[in-house]
Amino acid sequence: MPAGAGAAVKGKTACVTGGNGYIASALVKMLLEKGYAVKTTVRNPDDMEKNSHLMELQALGPLEVLHADLDYEGSFDDALAGCDYAFLVAAPVNLTSENPEKEQIEPTVRATLNVLRSCLKAGTVRRVVLTSAASSICIAPLEGDGHVLDEHSWSDLDYVTAEKPPAWGYVISKVLAEKEAFRFAQDHGISLVVVCPVLTVGASPAPKACASVRASLSMLSGDEAALAMLKGIEKSFGAVPVIHLHDLCRAEVFLAEMATASSGRYICSSVGTTVVEIARFLAEQYPQYHVNIKQSGDDELLEKPRASLSSAKLVKEGFEFKYNTLDAIYGDVIEYGKALGILLRY
Ligand SMILES: NC(=O)c1ccc[n+]([C@@H]2O[C@H](COP(=O)([O-])OP(=O)(O)OC[C@H]3O[C@@H](n4cnc5c(N)ncnc54)[C@H](OP(=O)(O)O)[C@@H]3O)[C@@H](O)[C@H]2O)c1
Repeated sequence: MPAGAGAAVKGKTACVTGGNGYIASALVKMLLEKGYAVKTTVRNPDDMEKNSHLMELQALGPLEVLHADLDYEGSFDDALAGCDYAFLVAAPVNLTSENPEKEQIEPTVRATLNVLRSCLKAGTVRRVVLTSAASSICIAPLEGDGHVLDEHSWSDLDYVTAEKPPAWGYVISKVLAEKEAFRFAQDHGISLVVVCPVLTVGASPAPKACASVRASLSMLSGDEAALAMLKGIEKSFGAVPVIHLHDLCRAEVFLAEMATASSGRYICSSVGTTVVEIARFLAEQYPQYHVNIKQSGDDELLEKPRASLSSAKLVKEGFEFKYNTLDAIYGDVIEYGKALGILLRY
């Protein structure tokens, strides 16, 4: 049996920060379905436009929704008190900020340490799972093709600072937050696992579309800004690596429960593709949206990935991805996009 399977969850409490977000909402749901008691945080518990789905999730099991803000030291103390596991998912996501230093980099590092201090104060947290991003791994000059990047790779901050690729402040924020988190965890004996997801696609209970859902649906919705983000990912990563939201949440829970996990980073990526391959797939599967493959396939775009992100470390631990094809990855996000009003209903 894989090390992560079968951990006794009865009586266990998990905290998920940022419960109204895209990934956190799905994680809260999965933890409740597995039998955990869940405490989650939002900035404004009275904002029902963002939080009504959390009230619905309370039907699945014990779910407490608490106020906490990453910008305030100690704000997460109540949420972490008495918890066995901490999933740090909330984070500033200002991909197009004009002042990345002040609006993305500094707040992300400060917030990560802030929540880790609350984990330490709680004294009950047996593992912290921090959601970072593959952006911390793979933004570096790549000569030639066939690169396979793993958890030993770090984005090259000198290159990122000099070249300022799309969302460069986000890249720096993730590298620095991870490094500070590992330093803090080591200094204070915290068992820390960092998950580095690639572009995450799939239906979530969250009622608001996040950037990755908009990007993944951009060739169907005609959202040019979101398509530019998808193209930016391909340019920076040498591929468009994707993962289904359900697999990402399964991996987060797997790593939390895994008896032997010491600490370290885990890439979460199940399919490596390109904008052109996605365009061809969508055009064939959803002809009613009239995907313009030619327009999506301008000269700079790749026919085949130049690089890949390896999740071999995660698989070696015993994890199995369930969504390994574009067909499976896009399985439920089309209906989600329609429900959110991103996609026309045909
Ligand atoms: N989606 C992807 O494809 C993807 C890929 C790789 C990594 N990630 C990482 O996964 C994490 C979650 O991303 P997501 O896609 O789920 O994004 P999201 O839906 O935008 O969620 C971000 C969450 O962070 C919360 N937040 C932001 N600033 C906060 C603050 N000062 N205090 C408290 N909460 C705050 C937001 O709350 P409000 O609603 O109040 O703003 C929201 O709940 C992020 O760290 C992101 O970098 C995502």
